[in-house]
Formats: sequence, structure tokens, C-alpha cells
Amino acid sequence: MRSGDMETTGIAAASCLVLGIESSCDETAAAVVAGDRRILSNVVLSQLDEHRPYGGVVPEIAARAHVSHLDGLIRQALAEAGVGLSDLAAIAATAGPGLIGGVIVGLTTAKALALGSGKPLIGVNHLEGHALTPRLVSEVGFPYLLLLVSGGHCQLLAVEGVGRYRRLGTTIDDAVGEAFDKTAKLLGLGYPGGPAVEKAAEAGDPARFALPRPMIGRPGCDFSFSGLKTAVRETLAGLSQPVSAQDKADLAASFQAVVGAVMVDRTRRALALMPAGTPLVVAGGVAANRHLRARLEVLAGESGSPFVAPPLRLCTDNAAMIAWAGVEHFRAGHTDALDIKPRARWPLDPVAAAAGAKA
Ligand code: KG4
Ligand code: ZN
Repeated sequence: MRSGDMETTGIAAASCLVLGIESSCDETAAAVVAGDRRILSNVVLSQLDEHRPYGGVVPEIAARAHVSHLDGLIRQALAEAGVGLSDLAAIAATAGPGLIGGVIVGLTTAKALALGSGKPLIGVNHLEGHALTPRLVSEVGFPYLLLLVSGGHCQLLAVEGVGRYRRLGTTIDDAVGEAFDKTAKLLGLGYPGGPAVEKAAEAGDPARFALPRPMIGRPGCDFSFSGLKTAVRETLAGLSQPVSAQDKADLAASFQAVVGAVMVDRTRRALALMPAGTPLVVAGGVAANRHLRARLEVLAGESGSPFVAPPLRLCTDNAAMIAWAGVEHFRAGHTDALDIKPRARWPLDPVAAAAGAKA
């Protein structure tokens, strides 16, 4: 249950300290953020090594790792920030969407801390953490257009206020991060895929392979990546084996260029639905990709829109973004009761999600 909508004005921004906890995928993370946008600590423990042998995230391994590491990371985040639980205004944790075992670990820990310290609890939507990160690093105000690109999502959202999101487009099949990860797997570039594809593409010719450009020119703002993935597989099979490093680099570059072109086309259409000069914001793990960032920045410039992209370390999963979403909710007077439930699925725009396409 979410309580009241009144503005919380009693606490000065600098002393509105929120502890954030993130455990919805394969990063265990804790951070302390202040209402004046200072990140006092931001500790992230990646489980990459534990999942690498399987080529992807194994939910049970992730949940066990969160159990093993979360307590220590929270202690470390508080110590690095130089604060104790009693200094906090609230405790925020990802309450979904994500791998449910991990979400339960983080949210239950936050509940225990909130109960023990008497501090309010705030259950944060992980996607909202990504969506509000630009406001942690810049003065961007509402509304803005958000391109949210991660391992599980590929959406264009009109961000109209805290808790107010209107989905303009989404993927009808794979998320864009998934497409990067699968392409990396096909090319034998290892895990995690996105950074590996980006690195390989640096030495490649993006014009070498004419891959399909899904959805470009179509009405609406939806995405589709499954055809592109199939095209990568077929192109690869048509090359002389074993595939050379140069062939792999060229295919990675061609793939990345198509993703860039699709992003620009879909985002241009979404910008046209917003008031002129609406800021364009990119967030989520795939926003770490320099090629995509550069192309979106050009698009924003052409459209007369300011462009905001959080620094790379705040694009991939972290707890500072969860703490910051907690700050935003706390200031708006939103806190949660201790019976808030963890959610494997939790769309930011429930109306659009109910209407069909994959959230
Ligand atoms: O937001 P995130 O850290 O976790 C989710 O909530 O999904 O995003 C992870 C995704 C992965 O698919 C990863 O391959 C992708 O972001 N990614 C990238 C890059 N860095 C991370 N994709 C393309 N280029 C990158 N540099
Ligand atoms: Zn994420």
C-alpha cells in the first residue's frame, strides 16, 4: 500500500539521506544518496564470474549470491558514506520487476532494516530507478522522453512525473540488450554480450553486411529484434568456417549500426509526439554503448532537444539509482507498508502493458 501524496517538506535536501538496495538481477548493490544529489557511496558487486560458465544469468545462483553478499555490501555502503541507519530518512529497495529470488532477498533485507530502525520503507520499481537516474545527474525536469534500453526492456516512455509514465513504444519480441547478448553468443564473443559486441565492432566495417533493419519507417514507436538476431545467425552460417576475427568484427559492427538506425528511427517518431524541445534521455544498461549514445545525441541536436545520458556506471544496474528513486518518492510523500510484495513483473505503464505487447 502506498501512503499519502503530500509533499514532504520537513527535511532539508542535504540531510534527506536514503539507503538504496538493488538485487533484481546479477548485481548485488547498496548505495547512500542525498536529496541534493550527492552520491555518498555506491557499492556494486557483479556476479559475472559466477554466471559466466553458463553464458547467462542463472536465477538460483544469483539469489544465493545476493544472500551471501548483501549484508556486507550494505555495511560497506553505510561506512563509506559515513552514516548510520539512524541518519537515514528512508530505506529503498528494488521491489521488482526482476528475478524473483533476488528481489525477495533485497526487499526482505530492507524490510528488516526498516523495522529495526523505525525508518520508512520505499519499494522501488527497478525500471523507475533507471528512468529517474537522469535527474540524479542533471537538472532535467518533467516531462522528458525516455529511451529505456536494458537486458529485459526496450521502451520509449513519456516521463510526466514521479510515478507517471506513458509508454509510447516497446519491443514486440526481444529486448535490445538480449539482442546484443544473443549476438555476442552467436559470434563467440563471451559474456556479458553488450560490451563484447561494442568492443569487437570497433575494428569492424559496419557497411560490410546488409542486415534487415526491423521496424524502420513503420508507423508507431515499437521495436523488434528477433529477425535481426536470425539474420546474424544466417549470415554467420554463410561465412567460411572457422569465422575469422575480422568477419566477426564486421558482423558485430553491422549489427550495432542497424540497432543504432532502429533506435534513431523509433526515437525520432516518439519525439514528434512530445512538445517541441522535450529533453531526450537514454537510460538502462545498453545506454552504456558509445555508438548508440553518439547517434542519439545527433538526433536530439537535430530535434532541438537537450540530450541527457547518465555516466556509464549509473547506466548499468546499481543501487544509487534505487536510492535516488527513493528520494524522489520520499519527497512526494510516498512510502510503503512493510507488507509490500516483491513482483517479478511490474510494468511502469500498467495501462499500456494490459493492452498487449511485452512489457
Ligand atoms: O540495465 P542492465 O544493467 O540490467 C537489466 O536491467 O537488464 O542492462 C544489462 C544489459 C545487458 O544485456 C548488457 O549486454 C547490456 O545491458 N549492455 C550493453 C553494453 N553494456 C551493457 N549493450 C550494448 N553495449 C554496451 N556497451
Ligand atoms: Zn536494469
